[in-house]
Amino acid sequence: MSTGVEQQAAAAQLGRESDQKLIRIEGVHKTYDLGEVQVHALRGISIEIARQEFVAIMGASGSGKSTFMNIVGCLDKPTRGAYYLNSINVAGLSKVELAHIRNRNIGFVFQGFNLLPRTTALENVELPGIYAGMDVEQRQEQALTALHQVGLADRAHHFPSQLSGGQQQRVAIGRALMNRPSILLADEPTGNLDSRTAVEIMDVLQRLNDDTGLTIVLVTHEPDIACFAKRQVIFGDGKIRKDERVAHPPRAADILPAMPVIGEDEDEEDK
Ligand SMILES: Nc1ncnc2c1ncn2[C@@H]1O[C@H](COP(=O)(O)OP(=O)(O)O)[C@@H](O)[C@H]1O
Ligand SMILES: [Mg+2]
Repeated sequence: MSTGVEQQAAAAQLGRESDQKLIRIEGVHKTYDLGEVQVHALRGISIEIARQEFVAIMGASGSGKSTFMNIVGCLDKPTRGAYYLNSINVAGLSKVELAHIRNRNIGFVFQGFNLLPRTTALENVELPGIYAGMDVEQRQEQALTALHQVGLADRAHHFPSQLSGGQQQRVAIGRALMNRPSILLADEPTGNLDSRTAVEIMDVLQRLNDDTGLTIVLVTHEPDIACFAKRQVIFGDGKIRKDERVAHPPRAADILPAMPVIGEDEDEEDK
């Protein structure tokens, strides 16, 4: 994972900013207007998330989880209610301002890895740095650090087709870390992975949360995945039905040795 110096710098940065809530959402509603019908996807959501939290969002399909994540991630705005990110009221921002806040603060990971196929792991991770206008040297250095953080430094020059599903998802996490976000949003990041690989991804996320203080909000419908978070929030019909802290979540790294390895070896042989 990251070096001691990096961890200390990250901890110092967090110490300065830790008093305020990173995310404060108050009475948020979201209605999708489909002309004939209106879908009331969120019906009064209020939640605060502090720095360094690791939150799992659960709930049945259609309960509003992805709509909530899109709002938290500044991809969409509430129809009603307030969203403060770092004390900034996001609801009042223009599209351009929203994009700016998003690029600086938020890293996204999805169920599909969405890597560019003819581009190496390193280049895939570098991509957000190109959009951010970083020079080549800084970009490569930060991308290598990110790959190191997800445990894939030794696969930097592999193409996605030469990587297993779990490795591809780790590249996608590295890409999300590239601009050093304060929040990582992951919507069903283990949805396409077998159970052991899913726990490996949870190990990566737990380490990032512990070592760098990265705030993580993760959507999953699997209790076996949600159990690794420090807080579990359950959505139902566009509302929060339950919000519980977990005193001592298990360590994914402790569970992995007892889980069978499937598939990964064959993928490694192909190279
Ligand atoms: N872009 C959209 N346009 C119209 N309705 C949508 C849109 N996105 C989601 N919905 C509807 O909003 C509700 C919540 O969806 P979603 O947030 O995707 O739930 P979840 O992620 O929990 O499955 C569902 O009824 C869904 O059909
Ligand atoms: Mg969803």
